[in-house]
Amino acid sequence: MIVAPSVLSADKSCFRDEVLKVQAAGAEFIHLDVMDGKFVPNTTSLIEYLPLIQDVDIFKDTHIMVMDIRGYAKLYAPYSSLITFHIEASEDVKGDIEYIRSLGCKVGLSIKPATPAEAIEPYLSDLDLVLVMSVEPGKGGQAYLDEANGKIAYLKKRIKERGYNCLVEVDGGINQQTGRLAASYGADVLVAGSYIYGHDDYQERIEALRRL
Ligand code: DX5
Ligand code: ZN
Repeated sequence: MIVAPSVLSADKSCFRDEVLKVQAAGAEFIHLDVMDGKFVPNTTSLIEYLPLIQDVDIFKDTHIMVMDIRGYAKLYAPYSSLITFHIEASEDVKGDIEYIRSLGCKVGLSIKPATPAEAIEPYLSDLDLVLVMSVEPGKGGQAYLDEANGKIAYLKKRIKERGYNCLVEVDGGINQQTGRLAASYGADVLVAGSYIYGHDDYQERIEALRRL
């Protein structure tokens, strides 16, 4: 299992160390949450912190929960390996995918809990990652919603059948139990914020998820 710690729950006063620690503990991705106060009620910017990890060789998995997809993508592309945007915020999904690619990043597309998996299906061949939200986006520390399970299974099945090279990522309320559940339905990447950064021993938590 690929583990993607979400820095939303990290200590920003020692941001670089927080990233280096999870990397040393076995995390292959770092999940970077960005919020605009419009698509979701909260606002979180990472733009002042990301130069601090520019030289860190970890896969930078940026999740933009924003209305202005192209504006934020342009701002965060220099610091991102992949940018995931929300289908609910997009008026031109194909165009947004192409735009992010033109910035030199891989592309992910996400669905909120109320959006069916079928909505994402027409774009699977153009994506590197699909992100199934297992909580309402906007804040950490919420409980995993079981509605995510069927969507993970559905998307994984379509990707396999058609031989696409697209990861299925799950974000929100992940701990060892819910992570095991998501893994059993076909998740390739587990995002975890409070489960990892809210605990003293990052290594123990990351290993618990990596083993799934
Ligand atoms: C929620 C964010 C998540 C969040 C997960 O809107 O997209 O990445 O950090 O936090 P936990 O793991 O605490 O649910
Ligand atoms: Zn996220």
